[in-house]
Amino acid sequence: MDKILEAKNLKISFRTSNGAVKAVRDISFDLERGKTFAIVGESGSGKSVTSRAVIGILAGNAIIEGGEILYDGKDLLKIEEDEMHKIRGDKISMIFQDPLSSLNPIVKIGNQITEAMILKNKSNRREARKDFNKMLAILKSNMIAADKTSNAEKISDLIKVFDKCNIVANQYENAYNNAYTKAIDLSSDIKDALFKHEKKQKTDFTALLGNCAARLKKISDKFLTVGYNDRLTELSAQCHRLKKLSKSEDFENKATVLLGSVKDFLADMTSAVRPSFFQIGYYLLKYPDTSIGEKPIERLNEEALIYLNKNFLDEFLSFEKLGVIYSYNRALKKKKSVLEPLHKAKEYYSGDFTHAEAVKYAEDLSKQVEESIDKLEIIKDNVAYTFRTGLLTAINRYFTCKKRNPKEERRFAKQTAKHDKSLAAGKKVDWKVIPKSVYDLDDLKEDIVSVVNRLIKKYDRYIAESTDIDFDARSLALIEYFKEKASQVVYRVTKNMAKEMAIKLMEEVGIHEPRRRFYQYPFEFSGGMRQRIVIAIALVANPDILICDEPTTALDVTIQAQILELINKLKRERNLTVIFITHDLGVVANMADTIAVMYAGKIVEYGTADDIFYNPRHPYTWALLSSMPELATSEKLDTIPGTPPNMIYPPEGDAFAERNKYAMEIDFEQQPPMFKISETHKAATWLLHPNAPKVDIPKIITDRIERMNKTGGSNNE
Ligand SMILES: Nc1ncnc2c1ncn2[C@@H]1O[C@H](COP(=O)(O)OP(=O)(O)OP(=O)(O)O)[C@@H](O)[C@H]1O
Ligand SMILES: [Mg+2]
Repeated sequence: MDKILEAKNLKISFRTSNGAVKAVRDISFDLERGKTFAIVGESGSGKSVTSRAVIGILAGNAIIEGGEILYDGKDLLKIEEDEMHKIRGDKISMIFQDPLSSLNPIVKIGNQITEAMILKNKSNRREARKDFNKMLAILKSNMIAADKTSNAEKISDLIKVFDKCNIVANQYENAYNNAYTKAIDLSSDIKDALFKHEKKQKTDFTALLGNCAARLKKISDKFLTVGYNDRLTELSAQCHRLKKLSKSEDFENKATVLLGSVKDFLADMTSAVRPSFFQIGYYLLKYPDTSIGEKPIERLNEEALIYLNKNFLDEFLSFEKLGVIYSYNRALKKKKSVLEPLHKAKEYYSGDFTHAEAVKYAEDLSKQVEESIDKLEIIKDNVAYTFRTGLLTAINRYFTCKKRNPKEERRFAKQTAKHDKSLAAGKKVDWKVIPKSVYDLDDLKEDIVSVVNRLIKKYDRYIAESTDIDFDARSLALIEYFKEKASQVVYRVTKNMAKEMAIKLMEEVGIHEPRRRFYQYPFEFSGGMRQRIVIAIALVANPDILICDEPTTALDVTIQAQILELINKLKRERNLTVIFITHDLGVVANMADTIAVMYAGKIVEYGTADDIFYNPRHPYTWALLSSMPELATSEKLDTIPGTPPNMIYPPEGDAFAERNKYAMEIDFEQQPPMFKISETHKAATWLLHPNAPKVDIPKIITDRIERMNKTGGSNNE
């Protein structure tokens, strides 16, 4: 299974004046790439809190008590906000229940989409330049350090050439992008004009043709226009000629046809093969005056690559590989040597220490860990990278709670005494004692130790796998990394480019006439259309993961189905991973691959959609299933009796016990563990204990399963 994100033992509470609300109580789940994971449960069960934790937007009074969310080599709970900022929206996006709350009412829809694109592009370019330079400096120092044959000068030269080659490539790519942008701009304006004309709005074709003639002439680039130059000149001349015939019969029709072919021509030109600038950069570095702009791009790419490999890259790679190996081995050695201090730290943090000592110890240790990281690794190791923040957070939490606990005990004792005294005096008492929120210090200490432990385990594994590394692949991947960063530096998204991308995106999410609707305000859209726009905005940066928090609750049933269909379609086409949150199991029947049923901050049942619908095991899942409306029958709905527990003092035992007619004594006393039912399916209910009395699935559910089996569907169609 290709896990894209893992949440482990997540615990989140909220500080309130009435005590700590324990909103999420130790939940774990995995997201499989390209699949939909649904979280289902009643209001207040902790669904939104869970998803907000993933994207790092918990309320200010939230306390992350423990756990981790691993994504792309990082623990999202431990990284700094500016790093989270890069992930949020870019890699993980979210849409909410109420589309209006995500849209600015006084900004045109189109601008709301393009703004995000342009801003993101600016920061991407800045970041890319930084990343490129930083990595190159690291590579260089490792290559030199690896060198045993006093080739330092040679290496310096190679790096210089490599850098230069990228700079030259950048210049050509930049020029190419500029010409490309001009083509897209012109094409965008033509499309707008043709669209207006089609809608019977007045269009000044004379001016447009003149404008077109001039702008076509200006599109010129060594590479972009190879093979297109004659047609460019020809079209420009045609526009110029036709412009003068504005009085002639059928002028508008002729103009439309000509502009149509200009549009098609531009589309053709801008979708041609892109030059591989890196290799061309090298080629041109050596032969600055070649008449390179005459060869077809495909051939040029091939020839330049052969030339680059033969004359430079093969040699560069051999030295680069030494650097990569050197960096790896150095880090490996440090990893081995940091294991002992890590084991000592485990002991240390199990004993007694003051706050200042513990922090100092953590800082020293973190420095050693920092040095054990292989800086040339492209995919970062999350555990090592977040070790320092993780350790310090755990330490600080321990001491904060240690200080707060006695205060809290005193406050509680004082309030209780006052309360009791008033009662004893026969006074009317209209206030309650705020329950105490004290933390188990042993647990908190254990958390510190577990941060260290995790790194030990990780490093043990790393060391065990160290004989099995493909350094050739690593070296090539590093070159690809540089190429990609260099390309990002000169990739500038202009207003018109963003507009065309936005219109495409609007089309993709099912907005008709996006070219017109681009200029409208949110109030001019219906609820369903607004939700589509919000989805489009969420997709701007092409994220890996899309979180949908009850995205259809505010919509009527038919629109609901359309939006669900849209999310399904986007998931397929973009290989998105979806977290879908709802209180209605019926909604996810058609779309979820796996389902977690949540109750009072815990996952009570977890399985594939088939597990949950065909073999539900937790009484709460039964309750949810039997309260699902079913169109095929006029069956009376079973509502779930009672209300969820107060999460400031969650019950000792199974939180659902109070409302569970199958509850046994033990349900009120002890939390049930997760019982494994199959490889994919587990549930936390004492009914699954081998000694539990046999309880049959309620008839209303078995009847439904039978019906589903008959119709062959897995759902409530
Ligand atoms: N900022 C906050 N301060 C205090 N308590 C909070 C805060 N945010 C959420 N909670 C509490 O955390 C618990 C879980 O809330 P959450 O929003 O995750 O519920 P939910 O399952 O999404 O419900 P719904 O279906 O109503 O959206 C609730 O008891 C809620 O009152
Ligand atoms: Mg919610």
